[in-house]
Amino acid sequence: MAKGNKIMNEIVALSKRRGFIFQSSEIYGGINALWDMGPLGVEMKKNIKNFWWKYTVQMRSDVEGLDSSILMHPKIWEASGHIENFTDPLVECRNCHKRFRADEIKGNHCPNCGSDQLTEPKMFNLMFKTFIGPVESAENTIYLRPETAQGIYINYQNVMVTTRQKIPFGIAQIGKAFRNEISPGNFIFRSREFEQMEMQYFVHPDEANRWFEYWRKMRWQWYLQLGIDEGKIHWHQHGENELAHYARDAYDIEFDFPFGRKELEGVHNRGDFDLSRHQQYSGKNLEYTDKVTGEKFIPFIIETSGGVDRCMLAILCDAYTVEPEQKDSNKMRTVLKMHPRISPIKVGVFPLVKKDGMPEIAKEIASELRKRFTVFYDEKDSIGRRYRRQDEAGTPFCVTVDGQTLKDNTVTIRERDTLIQVRVKIDEIAPMIDKYIENWERDKGIE
Ligand code: GAP
Repeated sequence: MAKGNKIMNEIVALSKRRGFIFQSSEIYGGINALWDMGPLGVEMKKNIKNFWWKYTVQMRSDVEGLDSSILMHPKIWEASGHIENFTDPLVECRNCHKRFRADEIKGNHCPNCGSDQLTEPKMFNLMFKTFIGPVESAENTIYLRPETAQGIYINYQNVMVTTRQKIPFGIAQIGKAFRNEISPGNFIFRSREFEQMEMQYFVHPDEANRWFEYWRKMRWQWYLQLGIDEGKIHWHQHGENELAHYARDAYDIEFDFPFGRKELEGVHNRGDFDLSRHQQYSGKNLEYTDKVTGEKFIPFIIETSGGVDRCMLAILCDAYTVEPEQKDSNKMRTVLKMHPRISPIKVGVFPLVKKDGMPEIAKEIASELRKRFTVFYDEKDSIGRRYRRQDEAGTPFCVTVDGQTLKDNTVTIRERDTLIQVRVKIDEIAPMIDKYIENWERDKGIE
């Protein structure tokens, strides 16, 4: 684990140095388990979300999108079981007053000071509370959603009616969720504010097992398409006492993070728990009527629930590579070998030197390429240092304007992973980048 800690520290440092992730409220000393996405982080997260949305919604005729509100009617959390069950057992050390999740403590001793003065576990609800309207009273208490899923269940009829979908069909949503975690940590792995990408698929009860298996396969496939190393992801089926209160069956996709094998995403067979409970608590009939057979039933729900931030961390960890700069060289480079479609910057554009009209040509190329790609123009420091900065940002292609450009309008394109450089005409840069990305996907066996 010491090696894992070292790699994690390097990834955290790189994330800050290159502008992927900053600690929230840093100038005030920071605030625990909250993070800000920097210029590269926001692009990378957007690319992950777009990749998921395209695969889950855009490419399918049976899944619709939704963006529901974060603050919702408080009864929703009674119906969902969160008020009663969304709790962790909390213990406090009477000696050092640190608090811990009881299920994470080995033996009877405080992990901080070693004393055996631990209190009895108390159940602690992870939902953040606030008030709606000006009066801070119990009846005005509402919650910041701890998952996006409930916004989907309560809109299932609205979506079905307006889109004329029939069962089986799904609703997908990406959005923020909030949990007052007792033991957050491991960088952005477990934080108190994060984003989820969730899809709820509504099916006939007799078909639930089949669709559960189908969506397990689809989710596995998605991580492969994302370029994640298949050797680093694993299935973990929940045992009887691991199952959440709503789940009949559940599998996690786990990833080998430097700090251990941990959950990336959950696929759940939620049965009719959600719609039955919302029917009971709202008093609205949420039954589905099959127009052909006339059969009425409460649909079962198959859920796929992944974290955007956790996925981002898995990609950063998977992509993080330290290797010799060239074959047989003892100079090392740090490079993020991530899927080019996920890379925050697609193309770095550099003039070899800051004279002879090279910056002007390079700036013109950059502004043309910006119509299609995210571009970073850089003329500072040696060309080697500029390449290394882009390697650390995971930029798949660097275009350099040099002396020859002035003669024949050609530039070099350097590819991040192979370090191969080719010369192309300026107007061939964009098609060449497209081709490179397709080749990258083909080499990885991605459709
Ligand atoms: N609707 C089901 C649900 O929310 P979950 O297993 O509690 O299930 C789903 O959460 C995913 O959300 C997790 O697999 C993880 O990727 C992400 N997630 C959950 N808690 C998180 C946290 N505190 N910080 C970052 N991501 C989190």
